[in-house]
Amino acid sequence: MKKTGMIAFIVVFCVLALLPFAANAVSPKAPLELDYNTPAINMLEEHKCIEDTEFMKSSHMQLLDQWRNDVVRNGDIVYTATDGTRYEKSLDDTCLACHSNPEDFCDRCHTYEGVEPFCWDCHNSFGLWREDANNEALWQDYVSQVEGGQQ
Ligand code: HEC
Ligand code: HEC
Ligand code: HEC
Repeated sequence: MKKTGMIAFIVVFCVLALLPFAANAVSPKAPLELDYNTPAINMLEEHKCIEDTEFMKSSHMQLLDQWRNDVVRNGDIVYTATDGTRYEKSLDDTCLACHSNPEDFCDRCHTYEGVEPFCWDCHNSFGLWREDANNEALWQDYVSQVEGGQQ
């Protein structure tokens, strides 16, 4: 083979070998599909969250953090939304009452975004930890951690 032929061969070979990677880099992620098909959401007159969707999207983490501190530190359990509706400041009783499919809603997006909140260790849509025989111990432990600023 002549030298130029050899170089052309190498170039073509490299391009072909890299093609699958290039295609991967260019193709967009599959779109995120959130599941709103829950009994409570299906019963809503208006398909909306407690605050507007943009706010929920960008700020639900701060909202939950605030709620937890209000409840655990100050015993303040009532949240008044912008539209005047009052809700219990509760992950289980409020958020998960509507979003009772957290694996197909919360987690689907968290996995997509690469975040892993640890809340499900204790909270879930059935509020099971409440029935836990160790509930009192769990609660005491939690209060001391939140009050100690560790969570
Ligand atoms: C170690 C167990 C544990 C973990 C982990 C945990 N929590 Fe809690 N959480 C509790 C307990 C116990 C209470 C007190 C419940 C009560 O007073 O009704 C509580 C209360 C709360 C409350 C107020 C009351 C309610 O019913 O929701 C919020 C909001 C909350 N947690 C949010 C979170 C969020 C958000 C995360 C994850 C970032 C989280 N928690 C992780 C155990 C836990
Ligand atoms: C009354 C039922 C209800 C409650 C309670 C509720 N949600 Fe929602 N949530 C919805 C509905 C319905 C939507 C879809 C709104 C829309 O169509 O844009 C939504 C949308 C969202 C979104 C935006 C998703 C996106 O990107 O499109 C987030 C995040 C969210 N909720 C989290 C929460 C959290 C966290 C809580 C508790 C603090 C909560 N929700 C409480 C019904 C509820
Ligand atoms: C549309 C996407 C989306 C949905 C739906 C969603 N989240 Fe999130 N969530 C995020 C993103 C993105 C972050 C990370 C934000 C950051 O790090 O600033 C996050 C962070 C959090 C955090 C803070 C975690 C930490 O370790 O700091 C909590 C708590 C949380 N989400 C709870 C929920 C709950 C409960 C639901 C369902 C009721 C939910 N989220 C639904 C996108 C979503």
